[in-house]
Amino acid sequence: FGDGALRGLKMVVSAGPTYEDIDPVRFIGNRSSGRMGFAVAGAAADAGAQVTLVAGPVHLDTPRGVARRVDVRSAAEMHAAVLAATAAADIYVGAAAVGDYRPASPAAQKIKKQAGAGLTLALAENPDILASLAAQTVHPFLVGFAAETHDVADYAQDKLRRKGLDMIAANLVGNGLGFEAADNALNLYWPGGSLELARADKETLARQLVASIAQRYRAARS
Ligand code: C5P
Repeated sequence: FGDGALRGLKMVVSAGPTYEDIDPVRFIGNRSSGRMGFAVAGAAADAGAQVTLVAGPVHLDTPRGVARRVDVRSAAEMHAAVLAATAAADIYVGAAAVGDYRPASPAAQKIKKQAGAGLTLALAENPDILASLAAQTVHPFLVGFAAETHDVADYAQDKLRRKGLDMIAANLVGNGLGFEAADNALNLYWPGGSLELARADKETLARQLVASIAQRYRAARS
């Protein structure tokens, strides 16, 4: 690899989970490791792209060749960082597992346990980063991810249309695949086509995904 398929192009990749603070010591998060997004960032850099990696809270080293890394914590921070970075980008790959909701009013001090009583947390909806990019009159080529536990193809194709994406990479989570796993399998969909990428490690899949993105980008912009 390293064929220069993305030479001269700026790509922004988001990766990892988001943490939504409840109080100074607790948060709502998810099981995303960030590995798929980091692998995509590394593969895109190998393909010649100038890559900005917007990373949620993860324990991963920046892949070789990635030009810039912006670390964020919450969905709101990720939203702002992605909007800033994509202002001059050609391609955005949303590989982050963005929290859909956040505590509506995070407590400034640690919430104390009230013995014998339950606790209800009010949640507010987070902005959808991909949807807000798709809503811009001029926006980068948009690639989304869809992690589903069932009916992957149907949900993915619906998400492609509904979110106005140029490509979606769908994976079935569970059975040793997806979150917290080394291996993954991806089905790619774009308007008018699809491609199955067989089960492999995330680095191999990332190279194949980047090759497809380069092809579809050139086809869409020619
Ligand atoms: O609809 P769903 O959350 O399953 O879609 C997943 C895709 O949407 C991923 O690419 C994810 O990065 C993106 N997303 C986003 N902003 C959100 C939620 C999801 O960009 N608030």
